[in-house]
Amino acid sequence: MKLRTAMMFVLALGVSTLANAAGEIVIKFSHVVAPDTPKGRAAEKFKQLAEEKTKGKVKVEVYPNSQLYKDREEIEALQIGAVQMLAPSLSKFGPMGAREFEVFDLPYIFPNKETLYRVMDGDVGKKLFAKLETKGVMGLAFWDNGFKQMSANKPLHTVADFKGLKMRIQQSKVSDAMMKALGANPQVMAFSEVYTGLQQGVVDGTDNPVSNFYTQKMHEVQKHMTISDHAYLGYAVIVNKKFWEGLPADIREALTQAMKETTVFERGIAQEENDEAMAKVKAAKTTEIYVLSLKERIEWHKALLPVHKEFEAVIGRDIIQSVYATAAQVEKERAAKK
Ligand code: LMR
Repeated sequence: MKLRTAMMFVLALGVSTLANAAGEIVIKFSHVVAPDTPKGRAAEKFKQLAEEKTKGKVKVEVYPNSQLYKDREEIEALQIGAVQMLAPSLSKFGPMGAREFEVFDLPYIFPNKETLYRVMDGDVGKKLFAKLETKGVMGLAFWDNGFKQMSANKPLHTVADFKGLKMRIQQSKVSDAMMKALGANPQVMAFSEVYTGLQQGVVDGTDNPVSNFYTQKMHEVQKHMTISDHAYLGYAVIVNKKFWEGLPADIREALTQAMKETTVFERGIAQEENDEAMAKVKAAKTTEIYVLSLKERIEWHKALLPVHKEFEAVIGRDIIQSVYATAAQVEKERAAKK
């Protein structure tokens, strides 16, 4: 359905007209990745738990692989109530005016997952969700995927290797600045178009966690991958605020619990899904995997760290400093345990 038509349809119905003919409350959960990814599997888990916990009063319909909406459209669709739930990557909130989310895109800001989870579950996460509420959207949870790896049809070892390469990015200004800092030409492209974009040479390379790389078959069209862990990809699970607040309290409570359990599940499988995908990429033997040497890693760091400063005013100095402080705290606790 075209978005404009959907909008008129939804407005005519009123966002809070939720029940279908069988009297069930329907949650349309739209996303852009394959079902066998951390987000895809978690969406199915949420469906199972939500339907169980509400004793069938809620029906969750999961639409994977951009079947309903692509990246840009899906957030708009949620805001007008054409779908009720999404889990866009954290890089996709900038265009709706929540630029603070771009902290998650900063290169090399999270030295480990422990720091990441503390940031998501702490004051920064709360601040980001508060910002969403001003846009008609409620944040329910942060889901994980993993650190991103670079790929192209040529080896990417040193910064000079990026010169002039057209690199597909999500619509994040931080990712744009990051690719430029490497000497590449960043190009925003919807996730559903990346495979064809790479195949036809519209773009030369991209970056994503291996779970997305493999399930979108990018290994068929990318000869080289560099294990760089240069940036992070995770998700915010969001709902239409009006829809959420219009739910009966007991249903909302059951869904909140289902989301809590799903989030534990999701974070538990993210690494494993990426490890499995990596094994499959290796087995396909179409993409050569290269791990950066220490010297190369230092060179990438040097080129990319200035992006933190560049975005201080946009993201908020307090938010960036808070991530640094969390990372230092995790490091201190680890050292004390040794
Ligand atoms: C991408 O567009 O590369 C990712 O955000 C896709 C996703 O949702 O994991």
